Amino acid sequence: MNQNELKAAVGQSAADYIEPLLTKEAVIGVGTGSTANYFIDALAKSRHRFDGAVASSQATADRLKKHGIPVYDLNDVNELLVYVDGADETNPNLELIKGGGGALTREKIVASVARQFVCIVDDTKLVDVLGKFPLPVEVIPMARSAVARKLVGLGGQPVYRQGFVTDNGNMIIDVHGLSITDPCAMEDTINGLTGVVTQGLFAKRPADVLLVGRESGVEELRPAGS
Ligand code: A5P
Repeated sequence: MNQNELKAAVGQSAADYIEPLLTKEAVIGVGTGSTANYFIDALAKSRHRFDGAVASSQATADRLKKHGIPVYDLNDVNELLVYVDGADETNPNLELIKGGGGALTREKIVASVARQFVCIVDDTKLVDVLGKFPLPVEVIPMARSAVARKLVGLGGQPVYRQGFVTDNGNMIIDVHGLSITDPCAMEDTINGLTGVVTQGLFAKRPADVLLVGRESGVEELRPAGS
């Protein structure tokens, strides 16, 4: 199987995983990216079994609507049954780097109100230590250089994502060269830099369940030690 076939298999598995949880009242959170797209396509078959979805990006909202799935503003929803999204890297504690597609801030917001976070990846995304994938940081445009200097001070090599504007009108800095041995501490430190909107570490709110697409089939993992 190639990587896209693994992504398709894990997207289908996530739809199967949440199927027994669905109720007519349920609203679900849906992430962004190529793996999440496969999930959306698989979810479409169950669209009459739940109320609707909250999207973590405009691209996801458009895809959900194309399948006839109602899309709600998060402000009109009290709780999300589940949040399903991909990741760029995951460690054995199911702490993640996300934001390769630039939707990290909305992804974080939607994940924060979900009862359960189901992360879907192919096995190329598994690592022992986070940081090989450059960490995306969303910044207010006027703070770009100031934040970049602080990120150098943290040991990273910041690279401005040329020509990219987030759904929130901000910029992304991709931080290369970090070896993130304490993801919660790094998350706090970068979130504390003035001008940072948020960054792509999901450590304080890691995934609850990880579905991994492998050549041998889809494996369900929980955080190490749980
Ligand atoms: C979007 O901003 C990202 O967080 C994606 O969820 C992540 O990059 C995974 O993307 P793919 O499923 O396309 O690899």
